[in-house]
Amino acid sequence: METLLSDRLREGLRLRRHPGPCAVVIFGGTGDLARRRLIPDLYNLARKGLLPAAFAVVSFARRPLSDEAFREQVRQSVEESPDIPFDAAVWETFADRIHYVQSEFHDRAGYDRLQAVLADLDGRMGLGGNHLFYLATPPSAYHEIINLLGASQLAGRARRAGDVGGTEGWTRIIIEKPFGSDLETARALNWRVGEVFDETQVFRIDHYLGKETVQNLMTFRFGNTIFEPIWTRQYVDHVQITVAESGGIAGRGGYYEEAGVARDMLQNHLLQLLTLVAMEPPTAIEADAVRDEKVKILHAIRPYAAEEVAAAAVRGQYAHGAVDGRQVPGYREEERVAPHSVTPTYVAGRFEIDNWRWAGVPFYLRTGKRLPKRVTEIAIQFKVPPLLLFRQAGMEEMEPNVLTLNIQPDEGISLRFAAKVPGQATRIRGVNMDFNYGTAFGVEEPTAYERLLLDAMVGDRTLFARRDEVELAWALMMPILDAWAAAPPSDFPNYEAGTWGPDAAKTLIEGDGRRWRRL
Ligand code: BG6
Repeated sequence: METLLSDRLREGLRLRRHPGPCAVVIFGGTGDLARRRLIPDLYNLARKGLLPAAFAVVSFARRPLSDEAFREQVRQSVEESPDIPFDAAVWETFADRIHYVQSEFHDRAGYDRLQAVLADLDGRMGLGGNHLFYLATPPSAYHEIINLLGASQLAGRARRAGDVGGTEGWTRIIIEKPFGSDLETARALNWRVGEVFDETQVFRIDHYLGKETVQNLMTFRFGNTIFEPIWTRQYVDHVQITVAESGGIAGRGGYYEEAGVARDMLQNHLLQLLTLVAMEPPTAIEADAVRDEKVKILHAIRPYAAEEVAAAAVRGQYAHGAVDGRQVPGYREEERVAPHSVTPTYVAGRFEIDNWRWAGVPFYLRTGKRLPKRVTEIAIQFKVPPLLLFRQAGMEEMEPNVLTLNIQPDEGISLRFAAKVPGQATRIRGVNMDFNYGTAFGVEEPTAYERLLLDAMVGDRTLFARRDEVELAWALMMPILDAWAAAPPSDFPNYEAGTWGPDAAKTLIEGDGRRWRRL
């Protein structure tokens, strides 16, 4: 039977629209993110024919460079990108669309120059006055840039126009994480953004939401009949979300010392994954319908009381050790890290969701740097069958069913269930039923940033965080951050690089009679 819900879901899942004419203005265009990710990904979109014919990239940055010199830098980054094939003909056309505006972020005159460049491009290339600003600078510059976008006509017009486009075109802004460093600074930033832009113009990016398997989570849950009925406390014992990284802090010591793992990963990527696993079906795959459901989950997550933090959230910091057979330094030996730093690089926590569906089902989240391998997965572990029928065959316990959503590196889904080992005896073993993205579809997947850049160009905010969402996520972090700041750890470093984190993380889950998955 067709229902309204299924029609609306199907509508939302339809192939994305192609973006119309526009300019992408990258603040911090010579920075790491822009060089490594944003501009190569835009080039790659051009290579795949996914960019509009009328398109320009404008880099707004401090270094004195000409258009030509900047293009040359970009060319090098694209050529060096390991997963992007370089095509000289595509490059020629793309390069012509790249422009450079040199300015300090606090210099009003720079914004006037930017405006002149955009007006010229609008006229010459028919961009329709459609401008997408991307804040890829250090977060300390965000307020300044937003203020000056507001003070110059660039965003003055935007505020009036909202996101409706029309003859004046549309203006949107993408804001990179970290969005604030605690609840107070996130609120202040939201307030500042809200002074200048309408919420419909604001795209707070979390690149985890652009990953293919993460999006597939919604299709998997709501596009199939068989999983949703068992996605509840009646059948699910617990959920584990792991984002393990084998890498260290990759030369970002300055940033990481300020951030630490809870701000860098937990507040955003892991909580986003949790909300997608736990949310109720939205009424449509449409920005506010989806985000309303995610926000309900954030409201329902039980905030830690200060005295609960020590038992429910474990922190760690890596010492030197071996990863992939290679000796690596400890966190305190990394560049721009204090020799007695107490910044955590690992966190594991137990979260409870106080709603009808999930009451009593713990969600265990863990993430850390310098773990034995890079793997991100969500595992739904089901309850064991109610009756142990196979005791006479020597089975004292049954392995539970586990549904695993592998987000990286091998994107796919696998279901573990019990099967009888062939032969006379009744012997039972767990086996896997696997779906692998790469082999099933054999198509080149867009990177997370490619996907999200396109979404912002077409104005789809479904995969971007809303104002209330970001603040609620910070509110959940605050008891942890406050308790950790109030009681600095005395045992850091407490895990060796190349191991699965501190012992206390084991105790956390084993104390509940459960075990971390072996990955
Ligand atoms: C970033 C964090 O947001 O995500 C990094 O700042 C982290 O510290 C990275 O390494 C992980 O992203 P991915 O896509 O490689 O899992």
